[in-house]
Amino acid sequence: MTAASISPDQKQAGFSGFGCSVAIVGTGSYAPEKILTNADLEKIVDTTDEWIVTRSGIRERHIAREDEATSDMATVAAQRALEQAKVAPEDVDLIIVATITPDMVFPSTACFVQNRLGARNATCFDLEAACAGFLFAVNTASQFIKTGAIRTALVIGAEKLSGVVDWQDRTTCVLFGDGAGAVVLQACEAPRGILSVVTGSDGSLTELLKLPGGGSRYPVSPQTIEQRLHYMKMVGKDVFKHAVRAMSEAGRKAIEQSGLSIDQIACIVPHQANMRIVEAIRDRMAVEPERFFVNLDRYGNMSAASIPVALDEAVRTGRIKRDDPILLVAFGGGFTWGAMVIRW
Ligand code: UT7
Repeated sequence: MTAASISPDQKQAGFSGFGCSVAIVGTGSYAPEKILTNADLEKIVDTTDEWIVTRSGIRERHIAREDEATSDMATVAAQRALEQAKVAPEDVDLIIVATITPDMVFPSTACFVQNRLGARNATCFDLEAACAGFLFAVNTASQFIKTGAIRTALVIGAEKLSGVVDWQDRTTCVLFGDGAGAVVLQACEAPRGILSVVTGSDGSLTELLKLPGGGSRYPVSPQTIEQRLHYMKMVGKDVFKHAVRAMSEAGRKAIEQSGLSIDQIACIVPHQANMRIVEAIRDRMAVEPERFFVNLDRYGNMSAASIPVALDEAVRTGRIKRDDPILLVAFGGGFTWGAMVIRW
């Protein structure tokens, strides 16, 4: 699925695709209070701060309270985004929560968020595309705005991964964290807004990253729990290779389709999984380190929440300014991947 590219002439004429242009008009994020450092992890599994930092770049991650669910974190991030956008909850037409750790199998986490926000006029659903979920959700919501079906969308990436990682498996538990990020989307005047979107999936590689238990394939039973199927499984090395290739290709394509050159991109916000993945993408795209926004050292991998949390931090610290062309690029289980160029 690839958005139609827009020629410079079309842009000059105010043309922005099928309908209007769509902008992110507010961002917000939330991280739980509790911080788990690499030194803390040394007491839980057979690992070292040195291994975690050199292999992943992660130094600490936030961990939700036991009684804190994904929708609790999503609600705070959403309130902050709405406040920044100066949009009242009742003016939200659509809420999409991207998550692999919903509060419950159903109802959707988005419905819990709606109720907490008092966004009574919104249609709500969750979207699952693992770590690429936030980009898929922004792309989905923007289609509703472009067609004129709705005016305002709230898109949230939120995860409580601490509840699904195996705290006995050192190859995964050191990598993930909890948190939520949100954005408000509305129509805007071209040439601002989303300029291009590239998304893709490869269902032949589902085995490499999954949480097998608790669905219809392996419904929860004493056996599935004994086999630890209710925890995330990852073949890290293979995921790493695919992540680098898919993100650098998607990033390059999205830039090409935006009509901009890579030199014009002011800031790149990649999925925050591993510093070595970020460095490999940087090398492949031949972009200097300063143009990448990285906060994974303080949060770890928050799956669908990684990009919106990083984006909010980049906006609030002035790293991304109005009219800056930026690139968001993600990769996750499925596999799923995507890239998006936005003129902020
Ligand atoms: O969000 C999208 C999905 N996720 C990702 O993008 C993650 C992609 N993968 C990665 O980030 C990396 O592959 C990891 C960080 C998971 C692992 O790094 P690696 O360089 O691929 O290490 P490895 O899996 O090849 O393991 C190297 C060694 C192994 O020991 P042997 O077999 O060489 O003796 C592991 O058992 O490191 C060992 N090891 C650890 N040692 C200390 C694995 N985990 C740990 C640990 N502490 N936490």
